[in-house]
Amino acid sequence: MKDKQLIIGNWKMNPKSAREARATFLNIKSKAAKLRNVQTIICPTHVHIRELTQSVTGHRCVLGAQDVSAEKEGAHTGDVSAAQLLDSGVTHCIVGHSERRATGESDSLISKKIQLLTKNNITPILCIGEQQRDEAGRYIQHIKQQLLGSLQGVPKTQIGGLVIAYEPIWAIGKDAQREATPEDILEISILIRKILVDAYGKKTGESVTIIYGGSVHPENAESILVRGGVEGLLVGRASLDPTKFTTLISLANSI
Ligand code: PGA
Repeated sequence: MKDKQLIIGNWKMNPKSAREARATFLNIKSKAAKLRNVQTIICPTHVHIRELTQSVTGHRCVLGAQDVSAEKEGAHTGDVSAAQLLDSGVTHCIVGHSERRATGESDSLISKKIQLLTKNNITPILCIGEQQRDEAGRYIQHIKQQLLGSLQGVPKTQIGGLVIAYEPIWAIGKDAQREATPEDILEISILIRKILVDAYGKKTGESVTIIYGGSVHPENAESILVRGGVEGLLVGRASLDPTKFTTLISLANSI
């Protein structure tokens, strides 16, 4: 068990203005900065990162990006490189979110992103998760393939520092089929840990931080953290509401 819970807010394509982003961030930071047992990371859209880095003080509430280019530099219209993200002040970056995979991102592309991030000292938050839970249990194989496929080519020395976010697609967003139970989450957090230990050895496999995301809110956060076998949360909608999000990080702090 890590000494701090890792709570990440994924703001997706919100809010509309940098001004609103700053106000929400400052609101969250005023609480997050006091919490010893939680590392809070807010991932705004790329164009709001600079506005918010100016508001970061200390290390308890810092910034992440939501995606990165798979290319190092050059002629890639619309892309943002890992070096540019580092320069803008982020410490973490989400990769392989299901909303990105839905646009056609492959495991090998995601692996290139992870490698560029680690070369630039940015911690990747790799998202994996199945579309559906089928009775035959094929989702287990799917998760294994996605995990190992996204890590293929990543040097073993970089694996231990990664964050893996288990995000079942059926439990994400306002159209989620249902919420994942702590038992659903525990099953997969154990699976992910086993796959990592088998592939990279006990020491490296146990160093990886495993978190959960998908319809997390203040009412279910505690049971997921206590019974889900995870060391943190990736929060979408509830991270845009400072009241909900600060309640959530305070709960995580007292576990
Ligand atoms: P949600 O999003 O919390 O709004 O379900 C989670 C995510 O997509 O990371």
